[in-house]
Amino acid sequence: MIKVAFFDTKEYDRASFEQYNEDVGVSFKFLETKLTEDTADLAKGYDAVCVFVNDTVNAAVIDKLYGFGIKMIALRCAGYNNVDVKHAFGKIHIVHVPAYSPYAVAEHAMAMLLASVRRIHKAYNRTREFNFSLSGLTGFDFHGKTVGVIGAGKIGRIFIDICRGFGMHILVYDRYPADKDNEYVELDELFARSDIISIHCPLTDETRHMIDRNAITKMKKGVVIVNTSRGGLIDAEALLEGIKSRKIGAACLDVYEEEADVFFEDRSGHIMDDELLSRLISMPNVIVTSHQAFLTEEALNNIAETTVTNIKSCFENNGICNNELCYRCGNIEQCKKERKEKCF
Ligand code: NAI
Repeated sequence: MIKVAFFDTKEYDRASFEQYNEDVGVSFKFLETKLTEDTADLAKGYDAVCVFVNDTVNAAVIDKLYGFGIKMIALRCAGYNNVDVKHAFGKIHIVHVPAYSPYAVAEHAMAMLLASVRRIHKAYNRTREFNFSLSGLTGFDFHGKTVGVIGAGKIGRIFIDICRGFGMHILVYDRYPADKDNEYVELDELFARSDIISIHCPLTDETRHMIDRNAITKMKKGVVIVNTSRGGLIDAEALLEGIKSRKIGAACLDVYEEEADVFFEDRSGHIMDDELLSRLISMPNVIVTSHQAFLTEEALNNIAETTVTNIKSCFENNGICNNELCYRCGNIEQCKKERKEKCF
């Protein structure tokens, strides 16, 4: 039996993972706490840990887990910016779920965008109060507008297809352009020409704060920004300034740089310490969802199935791990090849 300490458990994780418990040779201990340097001790006696987007997997945590004999860390998500993959190399195998439902995220991006531009969230609140006024609810047609997509990978490509269905013109910036059908442009041109900008690239040292004051200066007045990727891609202070100065027409945020201590939890009875987040949420043209884009039944089932397969492969397949984030060649982003041998 492979024993797995499962950090940051929510009730929807249990529902999808419990169906695999023990029958398939993997036993999960569901822990509500996030993985941090302080909570890493809870992993003592386990073979592996399973973590999500806001668990801390820095060098200190990796060293602790390695000391306890943990052999692998299974990310039940795609993004791995919270993991020091370089430090883990040679010590602990890191696996992730590269795709579970790109449709879930792309569709959520479009749902937020439609809600924001057509003021659906405001209309919903009004009609519940029998307020049938249309004042202030004017939106704009998507047809004929230009949408700039940053990162045309699995999610970005589906978002592009959805936008094509609306008759939008699409510009793409991607560090590693792959699809011949796209009109690729440099980032500055995308900023200058887009009515809507949707971000679908990973958070790396290079992309951190790619939307900052300087970038916002280059954008069209009234631009709508959608971020379902990672909060750190946007400098939230610069975004707030852009909104206050009326340069940014609207923002749809499923992620926020300082989300780790806030998102996924019910904070409704608490004073919000994060003033920047409070200010953003208080803006009439900002919609925030709490890292919800992945949350569909299909995605949760795929996450559980792939994670269990990843874990079993590492322990049972001569150590060749499915979906390993391998640091051996130094460039994880470009390391898409099928692995037929151990990473280390
Ligand atoms: P992917 O790896 O299929 O695509 C990422 C794309 O970004 C690739 O085409 C890549 O070439 C491009 N890229 C890499 N570095 C870049 C750079 N410096 N500048 C511009 N483009 C760059 O990843 P996928 O599955 O499409 O996911 C994208 C992101 O979505 C993930 O990194 C993750 O952060 C986020 N995500 C958010 C979820 C949510 O619930 N809000 C759920 C799943 C993923």
